[in-house]
Amino acid sequence: MFEMFPNFWTPVLPVAEIGAEPIAIELAGESLVLFRDAGGQFSALPDLCPHRGAPLSRGRVTESGCIECPYHGWQFDTDGTCTRVPFNPLSSAHLSKLSVVSFPTRVIAGMVWIFTGTENASAPQLPSSLLEPNDRYIIHHEIWNAHWTRAVDISLDYLHLPFVHRNSFGGELNDAAHKDAIAQISITSTADGMKVTNKLNTLPSGTKIDWHQPNIIVLNLDGMPLLPHFFAIPINTHKMRFMQVLLPNPGIGQSNFNFDDFFAASDDDRIMVESQVSEVSNVNEGYNVPTDEPSLRFRRWYYRAVKGKRNEVIRDMSAS
Ligand code: FES
Ligand SMILES: [Fe+2]
Repeated sequence: MFEMFPNFWTPVLPVAEIGAEPIAIELAGESLVLFRDAGGQFSALPDLCPHRGAPLSRGRVTESGCIECPYHGWQFDTDGTCTRVPFNPLSSAHLSKLSVVSFPTRVIAGMVWIFTGTENASAPQLPSSLLEPNDRYIIHHEIWNAHWTRAVDISLDYLHLPFVHRNSFGGELNDAAHKDAIAQISITSTADGMKVTNKLNTLPSGTKIDWHQPNIIVLNLDGMPLLPHFFAIPINTHKMRFMQVLLPNPGIGQSNFNFDDFFAASDDDRIMVESQVSEVSNVNEGYNVPTDEPSLRFRRWYYRAVKGKRNEVIRDMSAS
């Protein structure tokens, strides 16, 4: 499962949008049911009953916190263990043979996260800015008709600002681009990605962009009252969820900050990436120049750590 995005933690939805009813979600090409028990514990199971294939998301959550299939009422707890089959007094040993796989979940930064695998999900390695209390974050998300790697790629790319955003905050950079400014981009590798510092030789301020594998971008703009995090969440090979999570900066007031304008700026990015075909290309395809280095590092990692891993899975499947 999850061949296009195997064994990663990723947010899927804000906690505030998940009520008492089970919901169907698609993550990296897999259909899942997401539900919470009375104690607030989240569970993600395949949205497919192992009895006759009914979608569990059309069922209900029982008082004991199990999901009940809408077809014949089999019940599964948050671990995926089958706990009840109506009209059949089965032993617990028999019931355990009717269980389904469950995927690890956590609540972090006001969002429900799912691990896209079943083996040894160690704790996610996250920037400290995502470890604040859940109610501190301001969250906005939307569906883009694009491959998730395109959203990471454009978020790492400082030099799209003067062109893609020329009519909003990229206007000053657009002027500089036409006056032969030179970009100064430096990259520091980190344990889980890189830190990129971007600046033009003709302007005093720049932008810092951090990438955390697989799909987290943190922007650090001088003087901005909020720290924006972008998440490129794969839904399937041609659709993704773009989640923006803002953490207020306690040192700077936000009273004049226009959230609508900020979230609307990503429309420029959406239109660009939706016009691109499929996933990012490999580093030996297309032409590249020195300022493409952040993008090239991401692509090298993607083709090695994600596509490489997927090819190993496919090889294992064909060998067995
Ligand atoms: S299909 Fe789910 S209980 Fe029969
Ligand atoms: Fe952009």
